[in-house]
Amino acid sequence: MEFEVAPTTLEFGETGIAIRWSNGHRSRFHTLWLRDNCTSGGDKRGAHRTALISDLDPNLVVYDAHLNDDGDVEVSFSDGHVSTFDPGWLLANCPEPETRLGRSRRIAHFRAGTPLREFSLPSAGGDEHGDLLDAVKEWGVALVHDVPGDEAGTEQLAALIGKVRDSDFGRLFDIVVEPDAWESSQSTEAQDPHTDDPYRYSPSGTSILHCVEVSTTGGDSLLVDGFAVAEQFRDDDPDGFELLSTVSVPFVRHRAESVDQGEDVHLVADATVIAVDRDDEICGIRFHQRAFGPFDINPAIMGDYYRALIEFGRRINDPVNTIQLRLEPGQALVYDNQRALHGRTAFSIAGGRRHVRLCTIDRDQFHSRLRRLREELERPGADERLAVGNLS
Ligand SMILES: [Fe+2]
Repeated sequence: MEFEVAPTTLEFGETGIAIRWSNGHRSRFHTLWLRDNCTSGGDKRGAHRTALISDLDPNLVVYDAHLNDDGDVEVSFSDGHVSTFDPGWLLANCPEPETRLGRSRRIAHFRAGTPLREFSLPSAGGDEHGDLLDAVKEWGVALVHDVPGDEAGTEQLAALIGKVRDSDFGRLFDIVVEPDAWESSQSTEAQDPHTDDPYRYSPSGTSILHCVEVSTTGGDSLLVDGFAVAEQFRDDDPDGFELLSTVSVPFVRHRAESVDQGEDVHLVADATVIAVDRDDEICGIRFHQRAFGPFDINPAIMGDYYRALIEFGRRINDPVNTIQLRLEPGQALVYDNQRALHGRTAFSIAGGRRHVRLCTIDRDQFHSRLRRLREELERPGADERLAVGNLS
């Protein structure tokens, strides 16, 4: 990779080196960081390193550092080792907080009236594929047309995102009205906006909701941008936001008997409703009103917690925050399950049928595909900090 920014000054002391770059940025690299990242230790990116952190001398110091004749940064350590670093590599991996924040995630919020990004089912590896993944990352949802109605069609779309997750629902879950519904999605009832799988330690990352057949009255899809709602909630009620982002509550799903499309499960996860990362950016939502277990939080904060959750829930259910659309056969929503809450309006099956197919892809698999595709298409942003989801 070519870097136009070059070192202008290089200083060193026992604790490390400092480089001033031609763009004015200053980077500090600690002695142990430099020794740890010496290229003689193998390829760190590929996790094939031969040098171990546990073998480092914790009292290591830098004896000398200078730019050598090749323009590389040469560092001599007190253990006798000499390392050379490509300045471009050092700049790309600068550990200063402002550098990390400079890779901040690029997202756009949606609310009622925001047009969805729409695509015709793209072929793998091209610009349209890259645009689709970017849209899901940026907006939290995209609408894909021309998806064949059979299972192979769903799989074709899913394969663009990543490997399909196998769960107690199976790989593909066909949602149709069942006379003895064991899962509320199989009824004709409305579903309030929610994220799926909050009771799993690692909820679904990206979900695909593929419309196969719909000839009912009602049954519109609902989408709510949980990140946008949470951000607004933080602005309006910082104390409430603090509670929802720091206090864990139980999410539960209990199905004692296996059914046609599902195994018996007893899933329990303690987690916060809103997750923030180390830079205080919102990175994941768990919200499913039917999946909350009895709260076991400190009684002294129980009332405040409930009031915060009630207010957050009202905002989630506010039509001003909701995109409502009717999915037609051959269309599929691809959405970030830990950001874009989904629901539906009630419907009637009198003279009609509604069949949608659901499958999910783990979040890290999607992000891996996104980074690789950006590299392959020579687009920037492979090092963008992506929202890791709600890991709390
Ligand atoms: Fe759902």
